[in-house]
Amino acid sequence: MKPPFLVLLLLLACTSGLPFYNGFYYSNSPESWGPGPGHGEGPFNGVKLVVETAEETLFSHRGANVTLPCHYRYEPALASPRHVRIKWWKLSENGAPEQDVLVAIGPSHRSFGDYQGRVHLRQDREREVSLEIRNLQQEDYGHYRCEVIDGLEDESSVVELELRGVVFPYQPRQGRYRLNFHEAQRACEEQGAGLASFEQLFRAWEEGLDWCNAGWLQDASVQYPITLPRQPCGGLGLAPGVRSYGRLHRRLHRYDAFCFAAALKGRVYYLEHPEKLTLTEAKAACQEDGAQMAKVGQLFAAWKFRGLDCCDAGWLADGSVRYPVAHPRPNCGSPEPGVRSFGFPDPQNHKYGVYCYRQS
Ligand SMILES: *[C@@H]1O[C@H](CO)[C@@H](O)[C@H](O)[C@H]1NC(C)=O
Repeated sequence: MKPPFLVLLLLLACTSGLPFYNGFYYSNSPESWGPGPGHGEGPFNGVKLVVETAEETLFSHRGANVTLPCHYRYEPALASPRHVRIKWWKLSENGAPEQDVLVAIGPSHRSFGDYQGRVHLRQDREREVSLEIRNLQQEDYGHYRCEVIDGLEDESSVVELELRGVVFPYQPRQGRYRLNFHEAQRACEEQGAGLASFEQLFRAWEEGLDWCNAGWLQDASVQYPITLPRQPCGGLGLAPGVRSYGRLHRRLHRYDAFCFAAALKGRVYYLEHPEKLTLTEAKAACQEDGAQMAKVGQLFAAWKFRGLDCCDAGWLADGSVRYPVAHPRPNCGSPEPGVRSFGFPDPQNHKYGVYCYRQS
């Protein structure tokens, strides 16, 4: 591995600390409140609408149903309910535009785009306006804003949804630094994954990911995570961190990819088989077992979330050979847990075991 030649930026963004409450004090304008509660209680001075969601990031996984909590109240409390409009939308990030998710006025609801048919407003309790998202997709993670509109004023609060998943670096058969942005996107998709976002790479770095090759992220930046500064990898003078080359040309520049695989519902396993196999034989063997060859993202997810641990190297669908070690031990690769790679051996002349994937 050769060192990345230039380090433009050291990004150590703080990903927490988003405000979840920003109260707004109504001005003294009874017209905007209309007739209703409060009459006879004196002026509305100081009545405050408060909207609250979860302070903590919510974690879920692909295919799951998740509820993003949101409640509102008035301070001081009002005697009878008021009509409000609710709007849930997803904030823009990673270059994706802001997206409307759901609006509700009284009993009528409307959802938008990919969210149609998958989102519902949950109102189990009074003044609850939580958003349920069903069958979570890889693209669903991000920041969602719950907005409550009462008359002229509105208040909102933001909740973050993250998918449980694992970030892994990916190099194709052709070797290092061969992928432009579009090819990197495709390469991750072929591994049952997607390009990682900066937040996902940053979290992986916090959990110890250290990788000396730079890779594309979803926002078309090229970065690499270093936990242990060293000479062949940007030098000793740079602090640990996620190092960025900035956003590069999507077609002209070529790097590796950082992929993000969400946790899976199905099962990855090492196929018990009397003999070692070529790549073609391995594919047939998984099919005979009612399964498919596992993809790289599936192997990483099984290693990370199911503790898959096996010292036998096996073929994967992309023609690479790897094995997952959750509990390092002698004669089973390096002392760190991880997915070990043998690269892309000659598919006809080398024989290994195989990792299969079966949907649950
Ligand atoms: C999600 O909710 C739908 C509708 O209630 C249900 O049919 C489905 O089984 C749920 N999925 C999961 C993973 O719980």
